[in-house]
Amino acid sequence: MNRPDWLKDAVFYEIYPSSFYDGNGDGIGDLNGIRQKLPYVKELGCNALWLNPCFDSPFKDGGYDVRDYKKVAPRYGTNEDLYALFREAHELGIRVLLDLVPGHTSEEHPWFLESGKAERNAYSDRYVWTDFWIKGTPGHPYIGGETPRNGTYMLNFFKCQPALNYGWAKVTEPWQTPADAPAARATRDAMADVMRFWLEKGCDGFRVDMANSLIKGDDDDKSYTCALWKGLLGELRAEFPESAYVAEWGWPRQALCSADFDMDFYLDHPGNGYNRLVRSADAYLKGNDPLPFVRDYLDRYGISRDKGYISFITGNHDTPRISWYLTEEQLKVGYALLFTLPGVPFLYYGDEIGMRYLSTLPTKEGGYTRTGSRTPMQWAPGKNLGFSSGEPDSLYLPVDRAPDAPTAEEQARDPNSLLNTVKAILRLRHRFPDLQADGSFEILHARKDDPLLVYKRGTLTLALNPSDKAVKTELTGTPLFQIGTYDKGILGPFSFIVS
Ligand code: NOJ
Repeated sequence: MNRPDWLKDAVFYEIYPSSFYDGNGDGIGDLNGIRQKLPYVKELGCNALWLNPCFDSPFKDGGYDVRDYKKVAPRYGTNEDLYALFREAHELGIRVLLDLVPGHTSEEHPWFLESGKAERNAYSDRYVWTDFWIKGTPGHPYIGGETPRNGTYMLNFFKCQPALNYGWAKVTEPWQTPADAPAARATRDAMADVMRFWLEKGCDGFRVDMANSLIKGDDDDKSYTCALWKGLLGELRAEFPESAYVAEWGWPRQALCSADFDMDFYLDHPGNGYNRLVRSADAYLKGNDPLPFVRDYLDRYGISRDKGYISFITGNHDTPRISWYLTEEQLKVGYALLFTLPGVPFLYYGDEIGMRYLSTLPTKEGGYTRTGSRTPMQWAPGKNLGFSSGEPDSLYLPVDRAPDAPTAEEQARDPNSLLNTVKAILRLRHRFPDLQADGSFEILHARKDDPLLVYKRGTLTLALNPSDKAVKTELTGTPLFQIGTYDKGILGPFSFIVS
């Protein structure tokens, strides 16, 4: 498989910059805070970062409403701080992916301000506009009445996020531009320019927001959007051969095989394999039947295994935290599975200590139900749980106030903690290439109404029992790694072994 070599052993850590570590005491996380915590990431066993958008923004959608793609948001620091972060991360063997939001900008982006002017200019076609003030964009949300321009503009997500124009697969209206028109090409080139800007400064690639939704109109099989990415990524790879790209797509047949991304997230979509593994009422990791997960996963894996990597996630900034669904015992074996499957896994900050989903928090910066997964990292007992030296009421979001809120410092001292279990699993993964992204994979045992899952990675056999009852296995010998109990073929409740 022709993917950057470093991905084989990569384990990513996703950081929501506002909430990781406040380096200057103003109550909000920042880049210098992240720099200070790089050794923690390294010790955890992660060797790559994905930073959620850290660019200048009005923050009406947590920074996914970019006002300037080439400028670090002042609340996070300066561009120089980010360059220093790249350097220091690299010194520790950690790669850094930034978040690229190619589908839309903030309504405050200078391109959009120009685009909304009545007179034609270089940015008139940068966004998707109709040609009359009360004519909408069929099938897509749109806004009128906000600009001098005689037209309405299409939205990609929130009201503050006008859709950039990459053209239409099939043109049916005079105001639509074909996907191969100069206007669409100009948007694509502008995005390539943004990517190049950061790659030249030392970033190692991008997580790409809503990567599947660039070209509008009858691109149901996504062939136009895929062709765009394949071309664009090919161009960048020629210049930055080590760069890597992960798509927010959730469909490897398109994202990996056609669009040529290196990695594609296994997203939490109702009823899909990831959902049935981790989050549905009858999820496998809650002690149920593994088959719904296994079937969906094998299908995706089979299609894409020679093309690129499926990325399992513990969660992300859009989902309730994984601890909302699983107990600590289930999390330990669940992480063992997530981190020993093929592909490149992503760990969401705080999931390594089982941070809780704070479901009743009021919305912050467009977070809504996602806000409860974006609270400050819990470093140590005491003031603000070690997140910030600022006053508690100055914090971006409150820390978990529960008396038993987990912290990294306490868990580091407890050999049986979730944190130390995660570290042990990741050490194991780094030790055995068979357990890494490319190692072969085969299911040996997955049956209906049976919580035992046995799978092979290269020469290693792995067995998992996420239920509260012991199960009998056909395995013999002494495990080289173990969570929970195992004796003479009997795998205890919430247990996992590698042999
Ligand atoms: C997906 C991102 O993960 C989410 O946080 C954001 O709100 C939307 N895309 C819009 O950019």
